[in-house]
Amino acid sequence: MSKVAVVYYSGSGNTEAMADVIVNAIGADKIECGDFSAAKVADYDAIAFGCPAMGDEVLEETVFQPMWDDVKESLAGKKVALFGSYGWGDGQWMRD
Ligand SMILES: Cc1cc2nc3c(=O)[nH]c(=O)nc-3n(C[C@H](O)[C@H](O)[C@H](O)COP(=O)(O)O)c2cc1C
Repeated sequence: MSKVAVVYYSGSGNTEAMADVIVNAIGADKIECGDFSAAKVADYDAIAFGCPAMGDEVLEETVFQPMWDDVKESLAGKKVALFGSYGWGDGQWMRD
């Protein structure tokens, strides 16, 4: 059976609620983004990354973006999903 991680940032709970739906549906490990790193990628077959739109249509910059910069070169061969929430925009950051 595949081992799956759900790695997320959430400031006010919306993205965490989305993470919980995934975790509860498939029995994945729920991991706050500050607790994930490139060294942990090899432990998983698939990883879902979740982040809200922050700043001006960008990822959260103090915790999520540094984690993403650390892990992104380690994801070859992994199944990856992206999810997130947004407020006043139209999801431009997710398309970017
Ligand atoms: C500092 C800050 C910046 C934000 N920037 C954007 C943005 O650029 N575009 C957008 O659509 N929503 C923006 N939002 C709204 C959040 O993306 C939205 O409320 C989201 O659901 C928050 O998720 P969370 O509860 O997991 O933190 C921003 C919210 C905050 C607090």
